[in-house]
Amino acid sequence: MTISSSNPFLWGAATAAHQVEGNNTNSDYWVMEQIPGGLFKEPSGDACDHYHRYREDIKLLADLGLNSYRFSIEWARIEPEEGVFSAEEIAHYRDMLLVCHEYGLTPIVTLHHFSSPRWLISAGGWLNERTPARFATYARKVVQELGDLLSYVCTINEANIISVALLTIDTRDRGLGEAETNAPVGIQDQALSKPSAYMQNWLAQVAPQFNVRPDQLYPFILTIAPERRQVILGAHKQAREAIKAINPALQVGITLALPDLQSVEGSEARLREVEQAVYLNYLEALHQDDFVGVQTYSRSIVGPNGVLPVPEGAERTQMGNEFYPEALEGALRRVARHLSLPIMVTENGVATDDDSRRIEYIRRAVAGMQRCLADGLPIIGYQHWSALDNFEWMLGFDKHFGLISVNRQTQERTLKESAYFLGNLAKAALQEEKAHL
Ligand code: BGC
Repeated sequence: MTISSSNPFLWGAATAAHQVEGNNTNSDYWVMEQIPGGLFKEPSGDACDHYHRYREDIKLLADLGLNSYRFSIEWARIEPEEGVFSAEEIAHYRDMLLVCHEYGLTPIVTLHHFSSPRWLISAGGWLNERTPARFATYARKVVQELGDLLSYVCTINEANIISVALLTIDTRDRGLGEAETNAPVGIQDQALSKPSAYMQNWLAQVAPQFNVRPDQLYPFILTIAPERRQVILGAHKQAREAIKAINPALQVGITLALPDLQSVEGSEARLREVEQAVYLNYLEALHQDDFVGVQTYSRSIVGPNGVLPVPEGAERTQMGNEFYPEALEGALRRVARHLSLPIMVTENGVATDDDSRRIEYIRRAVAGMQRCLADGLPIIGYQHWSALDNFEWMLGFDKHFGLISVNRQTQERTLKESAYFLGNLAKAALQEEKAHL
């Protein structure tokens, strides 16, 4: 671990390329979104046009008092065909990184945030044993070209997302009634091994776009076979080794989707199974990393047969989750019990149109994180999800996680009160940190 204690805490906000850039035409998501009648409420289109407006967006974050920005580099742009690298797109991300530095923001860059190049899916996607080497080739290229401007690299976003999604599906399968889940319906259908006629029809239209059969279609987010974990963790490991071979000083980690886990009395054994599936199966593979990214939105309460529905009467977010900002503290403490690495909160946030609830969420989540810091947990940053109201994957544009709203007609940005709230928290904390140096 080479992070020195003199590095300031990284206060920032996060985005992902496909959710904000717009016109990510060589990616698998773009292809899937165009097929009507399936998983997607609407296509991403111009998204937030961040591809052209990044300077303005980065400046907004810096003006708030934040000192970092987490965003992703899009593999499908850098390597639109296997082995073909785009000098123009590399120059694009180089400029984004330069703008971050110009405004004093430390960039935290993710190499894979759910979307993959279309060609990768044609070549077997996230079940193919050659995917780790292919991902490492891309990672190597990024670091060769841009490494001088990078400091933190997250290889893969939410490597365990399907393990989390399958938990709630399990519950449904065990006859506990309709689980409270945000898992895309396609995953549920596949997990239950009985795709509905609706999904079958959609998959039958999607697969030929990639020149594969429906049963050979393995985008990151639809791949549920157990072997996926080996492919994903293999990709992480090979990429980390490729990056470190070029630039050993770069801090490399992965990010995980980590709901806080709690259990009802008598269900502790079941809780341990869930912990194994969601946390330990992944944390166990990360001891060689420089840091781990924690992404927490809410809690999952485990009952005797699995994850229970959101408690009756609980406040819910636009995603249907329980509004439960204390989840962050629980997840951070659980990670720290099992892995002694620096921890970065790479996502934490809430989908709501009531910005006063976002403020409340940030206030309580950050307070929980600060209790962890006071207890000596090695937390190095907090990246709020999200900088902008953006494209929430299958659910389209009307789930609002942003600190900054985006007018869908004009692309005009408006800072919300919560943006100032987080900025002021960051400024105060950084000042205090400086005073103690
Ligand atoms: C993902 C983001 C997503 C967010 C809110 C995380 O699972 O990394 O891309 O927008 O949660 O659902």
